[in-house]
Amino acid sequence: MTKLTRRRLLAGALSGGSVLSLTGLAACLQSRPSLPEPQSRRSLTAPVDFAGGRLIAEPAQLELRSGSKQDGYGYNGMIPGPTVRVRRGDRFSVRTDNGLREPTTVHWHGLIPPPEMDGHPSDAFGPGESRLVDFPVDQRASLNWYHPHPHHATAEQVWLGLAGLFVIEDAEEDALGLPAGDAETLIVLRDGRISPSGNFNHRSSGLGDFPIGNGVPWPQREVARSLHRLRILNGANRRVFELELGVPATLIGNDGGLLERAEAISRLTLGPAERVDLIVDFSGLNPGTVTALRCRDTAWSLVEFITSQREGRSRGRPQTAVLSRIEPLVHDGEPDRVFRFEGHARINGLMFEMDRIDFVVPFGRTERWRFESRGGAPHPIHVHGAHFQVIERRGGRNRVFAWERGWKDTVLLQEGEAVDVLIRFDAYEGRYLLHCHRLEHEDHGMMMNFLVSQAPERDQARVDVENLFGPICWSDDRV
Ligand code: C2O
Ligand code: CU
Ligand code: CU
Repeated sequence: MTKLTRRRLLAGALSGGSVLSLTGLAACLQSRPSLPEPQSRRSLTAPVDFAGGRLIAEPAQLELRSGSKQDGYGYNGMIPGPTVRVRRGDRFSVRTDNGLREPTTVHWHGLIPPPEMDGHPSDAFGPGESRLVDFPVDQRASLNWYHPHPHHATAEQVWLGLAGLFVIEDAEEDALGLPAGDAETLIVLRDGRISPSGNFNHRSSGLGDFPIGNGVPWPQREVARSLHRLRILNGANRRVFELELGVPATLIGNDGGLLERAEAISRLTLGPAERVDLIVDFSGLNPGTVTALRCRDTAWSLVEFITSQREGRSRGRPQTAVLSRIEPLVHDGEPDRVFRFEGHARINGLMFEMDRIDFVVPFGRTERWRFESRGGAPHPIHVHGAHFQVIERRGGRNRVFAWERGWKDTVLLQEGEAVDVLIRFDAYEGRYLLHCHRLEHEDHGMMMNFLVSQAPERDQARVDVENLFGPICWSDDRV
């Protein structure tokens, strides 16, 4: 009852003194327990493209209610940060600066950089410091992202706004002539919350109570009556979005880029850090029609689309097309490793330790890994520096979904599920991370370090010794 009163007051204050009917208010409180309210939708704006040079993690503000700003963190002052675009074959070079008052790192999620460039938690750098990042990008066209990864502080820094998109383009994708420019929307989709005192502080549950798209709460977007490419990153700390579109849509890609074949789709589940690439058909709608990307379990209209007078071109209709060729990884036999994600902090009984290596993976060998959920789900499981193929899900939802085909770097585990993936590390030796991407779990320690090595037996033996006696300097240490 006290809650209702407080919210009523807030709602009253926000509506600028206009009278709200009590029944209308009650209904609205039930479906949308928090402010801001969606009736004042603002335009979804695309993050600007990164112009090169420096990427600075620094304080930034966002406007979650009209007329009031909240303090957060952004890259180059923006929430989300600028979108990096590179072509396959390019070198990516950037200086990352820490303009915060706490340590941070910048991790390139979905990319395959040398491990020492990947923003591992042990590479955290302090206020006023910077890191040079420079690596070749040789991987398929795909939608990736960058975000901080300092141990114990990732959840808070991402919540406050540190995240940006990283788009790789290539000739294979160009050849499809997919909708682009105005006919393409990239969304960092997440949720947020404003505390009773009006701030945007991270909350330990990691859950917000209203949707945010590209830094704008309850956004809307005007679209031409044509095909539209909609690319979504679930950038939330822990919310799983049960997405639904009211218009015909075709799934063409996910974390690792294009799928082999396009597939008609009306609903999909997107866990934290997962991405999907959709072609949405607005061509059959009358001007002024409002449709929405909805979330089924919250009944939120995450993003509203309003069709304009413009017809646009309806080229690149990929409904039946073969989009790409994907080499299937092959492995007959039992899982090489089993990871049990337990409660809120442990994998196989262990909590993360910065300097402990938990296992050694042979370079270039295809392995079968099994991820099992043991309480505390959802667990979106993510591996750095390689992509995997999801081959089986047992228990729970009991199947592999269309949006989980092709190449993935994150897969969602719900309660009671065991998911098997095939994975191969063939780019760089070095230290990698496996973790739950529910960021509060990650910060609590649901992470493992592992080594990819051309001499796995030797390195496993060394790791065993170091895990007993602490770090040792081996005479033939690689840098
Ligand atoms: Cu997006 Cu290790 O994370
Ligand atoms: Cu990652
Ligand atoms: Cu988890």
